[in-house]
Amino acid sequence: MASRKFKVLALGDIIGSAGQRAVVAACEGLKRRHNADMVIVNGENAVEGFGIDEATAQRLFAAGANVITTGNHVWQQKSAMSYLDREDRILRPANYPGGNPGHGYCVVDVRGETVVVLNLQGRVRMPSIDCPFRTAKDIVRKLKGKAKIFIVDFHAEATEEKEALAAYLDGEVTLVFGTHTHVQTTDERILPGGTSFLTDIGACGPHDSVIGFKSDVSVRRALTQLPLKNEVSDTTARLHGLVLSIDPVTGKTLNIERIREDSLV
Ligand SMILES: [Fe+2]
Repeated sequence: MASRKFKVLALGDIIGSAGQRAVVAACEGLKRRHNADMVIVNGENAVEGFGIDEATAQRLFAAGANVITTGNHVWQQKSAMSYLDREDRILRPANYPGGNPGHGYCVVDVRGETVVVLNLQGRVRMPSIDCPFRTAKDIVRKLKGKAKIFIVDFHAEATEEKEALAAYLDGEVTLVFGTHTHVQTTDERILPGGTSFLTDIGACGPHDSVIGFKSDVSVRRALTQLPLKNEVSDTTARLHGLVLSIDPVTGKTLNIERIREDSLV
């Protein structure tokens, strides 16, 4: 008898209403087409590009997300602070100071498998918070006996830091994927210890843009050096992410595949 596979669909940073609409419309279809058991989405840019609120998170859960990860903009929607404390399935990076609202990881049971999802944030060209490497190791060691499948969303700017974290956790977690840059990289691979890795899974948001935002604002900011605020682009959305096939007995990756498709809404 063929052994069972457990499949995870991960979708990158959802940007603004266009990104939300695209994910809500496509989630069930993507799940069905890829036979995914579980869906993880990064919702850190979901509300007009900056943060997430309760209503948006509930929309994403209703669309099929099992866990929502975030990043540096998680604190932007003030109304979400108490929600982060109340809802275990929405994460903020675990290496923010202890006592901040919310949870940095969760343990979820999905279709008979126990899965740990851990959210971390980089420190290169980002706020200088606690060490993501040591934080990850402490959490993984603490939960080792509870699950075989560990998925890490490392929300970080620098490729080197992302590759280094994957190398550091190689053999101890199932997957490390990067978010935050909004541009999908093409370097998916399985490391020597069995951990799979993709530097950045890309975004779900307006495509004809500069990282999801209006191009002209980015150009004006570059030319003038004025502190102009990004505005979400109103062009058509594209979805980016990955599908991971896992052996649930060992927690190791069987296959990692990037996905990219135009939104139909
Ligand atoms: Fe970010």
